[in-house]
Amino acid sequence: MAMTGCGSAAPAVSLSNEELSQVVETSDEWIASRTGIRSRRLASANESLVGFATEAAREAIAMANLDPTDIDLILLATSTPEDLFGTACQIQAQLGATRAVAFDLTAACSGFVFGLVTAAQFIRTGVYKNVVLIGADVLSRWVDWEDRRTCVLFGDGAGAVVLQPDDRDRLLGFALRSDGTQNSYLNLAYRAEHVALTDKVAIGRGTFAPITMNGQEVYRFAARRVPEIIEKALFHAELTANDVDWLLLHQANQRILDAVAQRLKIPPEKVISNLAEFGNTSAASIPLALDAEVRQGRMKSGDIVASAGFGAGLSWGAAIFEWGC
Ligand code: UT7
Repeated sequence: MAMTGCGSAAPAVSLSNEELSQVVETSDEWIASRTGIRSRRLASANESLVGFATEAAREAIAMANLDPTDIDLILLATSTPEDLFGTACQIQAQLGATRAVAFDLTAACSGFVFGLVTAAQFIRTGVYKNVVLIGADVLSRWVDWEDRRTCVLFGDGAGAVVLQPDDRDRLLGFALRSDGTQNSYLNLAYRAEHVALTDKVAIGRGTFAPITMNGQEVYRFAARRVPEIIEKALFHAELTANDVDWLLLHQANQRILDAVAQRLKIPPEKVISNLAEFGNTSAASIPLALDAEVRQGRMKSGDIVASAGFGAGLSWGAAIFEWGC
């Protein structure tokens, strides 16, 4: 399997820390020093996840020199679907990917890495050839904009890659984990409103509560589990941290990126970060950051990338891959 194309899209509108301090009691100094975030892109009510995801996918398909009708499978990693029945089919229609089967995959900020491993299974078994994997989230819709502990962190965007079979399998190693016993640390939970249908029967009318997070616990979890799972994936790849050209982590917090790099002894110049401009874009963060490195010519074909996603579930996973073909 090889990664032969990438693309990304994000809202044009950016909100700086300074501007955000007019919304909640915070400061550029607090946000930047604790997280590395300086601004985030925010989608308007008229913009859609489908729109960003389609744009990112279109770019990735073009880079891979394919036509949308060549695509066999579209996987959408998202936690913010525009239809709970699934959003991927809308992207399939917008792309005109008439032959593709399309479905959603939900694993929060681990979604892209979980999706990469899922796509690899279809390609390795020869079932599908041309796969588009999209990571897209519009968390600004689900953040409590009065909660300064969470609203300063998140931004919106989408990133996509094309995956295809190759003589050599360039997904070199991976490891995935879940721990539902710590689920309460980070939620975007269903909330039922009690509605009596008859004297005897009541149902719960559905809505979702805004994002809640125990930041310190999630930080502890990430700082401990992410280096561990990358080491596991490197072991499966028969590589060491010395072989890694790029550390591409889910963009949650610059301090987490630095701590993981330090643990693995990976120098700062190999650590990819787009936090300052985009904040935490959840499932989009890895492909969004990857696309910038590739398009700006920094990441070259054959470079070895250690990627890891982590977040709600709790879930975490690492994938070691070689970019390009
Ligand atoms: O993508 C999913 C994965 N998510 C993550 O990886 C998030 C992991 N966690 C973190 O990145 C950090 O825990 C945060 C950046 C969320 C918070 O940083 P922290 O150093 O853990 O801060 P804290 O929650 O311990 O809060 C410290 C202080 C508190 O004040 P007191 O109680 O010490 O007086 C907070 O009320 O900072 C206060 N505070 C703020 N002050 C200004 C919390 N949020 C803000 C804010 N502006 N936005």
